[in-house]
Amino acid sequence: MSKGKFYLTTPIYYPSGKLHIGHTYTTVAADVLARFKRQTGYDVKFLTGTDEHGEKIQEAAQKMGLTPKEYLDEMVSEIKKLWEAMDISYDIFIRTTDEEHKQRVQNMFQKLYDKGDIYKSEYEGWYCTPCESFWTEGQLKEGHICPDCERPVYLAKEEAYFFKLSKYQDRLIKYFEEHPEICSPPSRKNEMVNNFLKPGLEDLCVSRTSFDWGIPVPFDPKHIIYVWFDAVSNYITALGYGSENEELFNKYWPADVHLVGKEIVRFHTIIWPIMLMALELPLPKMVYGHGWILFDADKMSKSKGNIVYPEPLIERYGLDAIKYFLLREFTFGQDGNYTNRNFINRLNSDLANDLGNLVSRTVAMIEKYNGGIIPEPEQSGEFDEDLKSVATSASEKIETAIDKLQFHEGLEEIWKVIRRTNKYIDETTPWILAKDDSNRQRLNTVLYNLADCIRIISVLIKPFMESTTIEIWTQLGIDDGQGTEWKDTFSFGRIPTGTKVRKRDVLFPRLDVDKEVEALEKMGETQEEQEDAVIIESKEQITIDDFGKLELRVAKVLKAEKHPDADRLLVLQLQVGNETRQVVSGIAEYYDSEQLIGKNLILVANLKPVKLRGIESHGMILAACNDKELVLGTVDRDIASGTEIN
Ligand code: MSP
Repeated sequence: MSKGKFYLTTPIYYPSGKLHIGHTYTTVAADVLARFKRQTGYDVKFLTGTDEHGEKIQEAAQKMGLTPKEYLDEMVSEIKKLWEAMDISYDIFIRTTDEEHKQRVQNMFQKLYDKGDIYKSEYEGWYCTPCESFWTEGQLKEGHICPDCERPVYLAKEEAYFFKLSKYQDRLIKYFEEHPEICSPPSRKNEMVNNFLKPGLEDLCVSRTSFDWGIPVPFDPKHIIYVWFDAVSNYITALGYGSENEELFNKYWPADVHLVGKEIVRFHTIIWPIMLMALELPLPKMVYGHGWILFDADKMSKSKGNIVYPEPLIERYGLDAIKYFLLREFTFGQDGNYTNRNFINRLNSDLANDLGNLVSRTVAMIEKYNGGIIPEPEQSGEFDEDLKSVATSASEKIETAIDKLQFHEGLEEIWKVIRRTNKYIDETTPWILAKDDSNRQRLNTVLYNLADCIRIISVLIKPFMESTTIEIWTQLGIDDGQGTEWKDTFSFGRIPTGTKVRKRDVLFPRLDVDKEVEALEKMGETQEEQEDAVIIESKEQITIDDFGKLELRVAKVLKAEKHPDADRLLVLQLQVGNETRQVVSGIAEYYDSEQLIGKNLILVANLKPVKLRGIESHGMILAACNDKELVLGTVDRDIASGTEIN
């Protein structure tokens, strides 16, 4: 019988870049929670998706010369592939560009406008495009830097619609007091109360006119609905709220858990609950803001080149190893530091040594001492009661841990059983029992107890690492339904006797730590090189006649001086055959004057002269440049200056 419904969500991710291990972390946590709840008898709805509107997406598409839709379809399909590779068991995948979502968000906006909770006014504020967020002056770092992503903000002023957050402030404070779980863990609640609720909420600007990639305000379509209003609404539009059929919504809302990273807790525990209050809907039971995964104690970012992607790790170590590591290594709720060495050490100690060894030793002993058949337990002895009590008392503790979203504690409880069982082998020494026939009955019991403990362990780890569970069942020779349900973990003796075990490959091979760390570092470098690879956006083709219009000549640098009025410019005197040319060039950041003397550069000689900051420049020198570096074009060997290049 179902224990009731359980609705949980991940953030809907921006499809503006490749998702990394951080995004994977939230989704894996949600997936494990969903699987655990299903396993323990709940009727689960698990939602994930993509947040596809806003200036950032529009800009990313433009950069690639694609329409937002073309760009998004490609990126979203990559995200779905990743979740498939990670075996994420979501039930609904929402895209905020889905027609139904758009209409439902418009209905919500209209409702709040009609009610007077949304009104028109003018907005002036500091806007961060990557975060799609307005900030007050006081919140900025160094007066012009976004406190979240540390990129520059700009002053935006526009006519806009506002949502009356202030009206609901006292109700929200009261709600926080009465339902502290709405903002979990408690440290996040204190942060929200002290940083936002106590200083007082200002009404929130919920529309934009500076770009158009978004959902239009239904009654004033030159305004686009603020992307966070659009985004958080997904949690109910995905269930059909605001449509003709609200059956799913009525069944599953309110959410039992919204899982989010700590940086978006404020949107989920202030703006979203107030939107729901204004819509007269129940609030989510829990918003859980987990910590960040850092890389070598630093925030992962493309510019730092320290992003860890899950795909190569899955390929090399298997999915279950990654999922296990993510949820065991880090304390959910706090920041955690990823290092390749910790990763490999964890796989070796917990998976290869503890779990892998237990299974392979047990199966090998059943094969060796009982022809591969799980024997009948016949004679109990010392250590049995303790073993059984440890094995059958774990499930309750795991339930408590997972209900608090303390996945690492849940896993630690399972590993206590694994370690206890390994110890039981050392205590009972089956290889000594096997030497004397008079110990046959005791040996059978020991082998049976080991097999049954592994059965319990296999069920306990199922929400975390299902393919390992199935592999263990194959090795134990049991099928789904033979002591494999959650309720079967509370009692001992459920594994059928007489089944035949099958020895197969080890579950997790032992790894050479130094070798693997080196390989992972290399993989990181290759990945960085690939990311840095220049994407060629070809220009229109030209004819040889077009090219013939250019007069390119070898020009030798005679003198180079700083421009008196511009730090970035150098004034060059160039020898071009029998002429001396003056060229002003923006290379001062990359070359010292002395470095240039004597170099044979390539000059576009027939470019019309211009004045740059008051100094005449006749011609242009060629250089290769990107946003990080600039390298001057030169000729391969010495040749007379003035020689034409064609
Ligand atoms: N689109 C918004 C969310 C809207 S939800 C209504 C967004 N998207 S995001 O693509 O930037 O994803 C942010 C989420 O990814 C974080 O909240 C967190 O769950 C996860 N993470 C991204 N980087 C992370 C780490 N380095 N570590 C842990 N989680 C991280 O914000």
